[in-house]
Amino acid sequence: MRRVVFNQKGGVGKSTIVCNLAAISASEGLRTLVVDLDAQGNSTQYLMGARAGEASPSAANFFEASLAYSFKPVDLASFIHPTPFENLDVMPAHADLDALHGKLESRYKIYKLRDALIELEATYDAIYIDTPPALNFYTRSALIAVERCLIPFDCDDFSRRALYTLLDNVKEIQQDHNDALEVEGIVINQFQPRASLPAKLVEELVTEGLPVLESRLSSSVKIRESHQHAMPMIHLDPRHKLSQEYLALHRELAG
Ligand SMILES: Nc1ncnc2c1ncn2[C@@H]1O[C@H](COP(=O)(O)OP(=O)(O)OP(=O)(O)O)[C@@H](O)[C@H]1O
Ligand SMILES: [Mg+2]
Repeated sequence: MRRVVFNQKGGVGKSTIVCNLAAISASEGLRTLVVDLDAQGNSTQYLMGARAGEASPSAANFFEASLAYSFKPVDLASFIHPTPFENLDVMPAHADLDALHGKLESRYKIYKLRDALIELEATYDAIYIDTPPALNFYTRSALIAVERCLIPFDCDDFSRRALYTLLDNVKEIQQDHNDALEVEGIVINQFQPRASLPAKLVEELVTEGLPVLESRLSSSVKIRESHQHAMPMIHLDPRHKLSQEYLALHRELAG
């Protein structure tokens, strides 16, 4: 199973959701890989903590190698590193992803990630891709490389308007490049059930027929502690409300 968490809007919870779902997947015994395509490296940092800086070669080296792919097949395993968590590996991000972007786009390497992930499916039961807040070469590569797309929504009115453009963009990729791509749904993040505006926004999405998932993720300051300690919620505090909500989301996505 290959899944991307995508929203071109920044700060909606992509990295946090990728890492928490991947940590649950791994804790349930599935061999799980996180591919971090965001030069900010938030998922890499979250899962590897102090060791994030040593994680080399990275996703940037993978794409760099893909520029010369026809001459030298790349050894995919060399770009993947273990995390402190059992069954959970990461292909780390690197700041060089930004510098490589233009070259990759002009050389039309958009299918290289898909080919690599299909090869890696022999080793991993679940692959999660974290993406940057943009519709660029990396997010397009990811949308082409996966079977499922999960869209976080942060209960903000600007995000609501952007959702329609986002769904159109995904549809275009489905039509032009990846007919196996399925939008799993919109996951409501940082939900505050007692505030009236978020509840109203979510209700509108449902009324408009958008694929809103049942699971809601609450807003909690515990997430900061989780990032700071580089411990996904399931490891930091498995009984916490938010941990239970990530578990419920993981179950909902598994069907
Ligand atoms: N459930 C939550 N409760 C409280 N804060 C949250 C929650 N989920 C995410 N956040 C906070 O929201 C911010 C953005 O989260 P995150 O980095 O996961 O989003 P992102 O979409 O990956 O951002 P970017 O687009 O910059 O990559 C972070 O400061 C994080 O701590
Ligand atoms: Mg992020």
